[in-house]
Formats: sequence, C-alpha cells, structure tokens
Amino acid sequence: MKSIVVANWKMNPPTFREAKKLFDATKKAAERCRDISLIIAPPAIYLHELSANYKGKRISFAVQNAHSEESGAQTGEISIAQARDAGAGYVLVGHSERRAVGETNDDTRKKVAAALSLKMTPVLCIGETSRSSSGEHFSIIAEQLLAGIRDVPPAKISKVIIAYEPVWAIGGETTMSPRDMHTMAIFIRKTVVGVYGDVGHKVTILYGASVGEQNATAMMRDGDVRGFIVGHVSTNAERFTALLQALKKES
Ligand code: PGA
Repeated sequence: MKSIVVANWKMNPPTFREAKKLFDATKKAAERCRDISLIIAPPAIYLHELSANYKGKRISFAVQNAHSEESGAQTGEISIAQARDAGAGYVLVGHSERRAVGETNDDTRKKVAAALSLKMTPVLCIGETSRSSSGEHFSIIAEQLLAGIRDVPPAKISKVIIAYEPVWAIGGETTMSPRDMHTMAIFIRKTVVGVYGDVGHKVTILYGASVGEQNATAMMRDGDVRGFIVGHVSTNAERFTALLQALKKES
C-alpha cells in the first residue's frame, strides 16, 4: 500500500510565482517516489492554476479548509464543490489552526459529510493542545473524532482519513515519539471500531506535527501510521525532497 504525504503549505508562499517554483521542485521529487501518494494543499487561490497545468498522476490536490454549504451568502468562504471544481480531491477538515479561530466539532461533522457526499476525501484533523499525565487528551481526541465522523455511514468510513496532529508539537523539529503515536493510532482505531465494527479497522491514519527528513522514517516504521501531514518542511523544496527520499528508502 502506498504511503500518503500531505504537503500543507498553509498561507505560503507569498506569490504565485514562488508557488509555481515550489510546485515544480516538489513534482520533480514526487516523480522519483513511486510508493508515495503526494497530496498538495496550497493556498486555495493558487489551486486551480497549479492543478490545471499538472498532467501527471502522482500528485493530488487538497484545500486547507472549505465551507460545508454548496453555495450561498458566505462572504470570504469557498465551498467544497468549488474546491472540487478547481481540482481538489481532498479537503482538510478541522486543522488546529482553523479550530483556533473558531471551527467547532459540529462544523467538522458537516464538512466531513459534505465532502463525502461530493466524492471528495475528507482529512479530519484531530489533536489536543496540551498533555497532562492524567491522560485527559484521550477524551479530547475521542470527542473530536466521534463528532467529526458522526454523520458518516458505515459504507463510507473507510474513505475518511484521520490525521492526528498534537497541537503542542506543530511547527517545530521534534515529533511526538513513534511509540506514543502507536498508542494513539490504536486508540483512534479502537474508537472507530467501537462505533462501526470491524470496517473501522480500514480507517487511514496519518501523523502531523514537525515531520521532517530527520524524523519521518522512524515515525513511519514504528508509529503505526500510513503517512504524514507536513507543514513548514513542505514549503522548503530542499528539505521536502530529502523527506520524500528518506521515506522512499524506507519503503
Ligand atoms: P508542521 O505543521 O509540519 O509545520 O508542524 C503540520 C500541520 O500543521 O499540519
């Protein structure tokens, strides 16, 4: 099975010209990695031009956020249908940086369902902002997870990607330990299986937060994940190429 790497460019780079350059470098790196499905989530304003000019198969596109309604009076928003029309096949839902500006668990529920109904793949991001020894983060994760998938019918649960992103580890150089991720992956799967039965085992789990060429292979080997969401390292062509190369050697 192919690994999945999502390049979450966030609000970068500042011009389309630079975005194109980054895309071209990323494309070159992706072409050398047959076993990796690469999903690029550029700023939405760059999406159409990048996707329309891409003729290959190895790269898919995502939006970093989208509204669950199909159309209407939502100033400043883009809909999932519009994202699809612009070339996206995936929608990030509930990224912690969206939750920090007000996205609720109920919003994520609507977005996950809307994405699936339009045959787009939702990438539901979940993660606690801090950890304490009491293990409270497991309840937060269960709450975010169960709310996000609440309207997903059993026949579609295998189409949902769950991205675990511990907020306290985002933006740095050190990931959570692969061992802790393994525990979290078991917890996530157990929670989904608790609702959906055995088909819940099919849910795809990614890890995100400070993934780079220096730590990705260990996480891939021992973290029980299918791949990653990569933030700041994905906007550095040299580092991102090194990361893909490191994963390639591993597979
Ligand atoms: P990071 O971001 O790789 O910069 O930690 C990951 C994310 O926020 O998706």
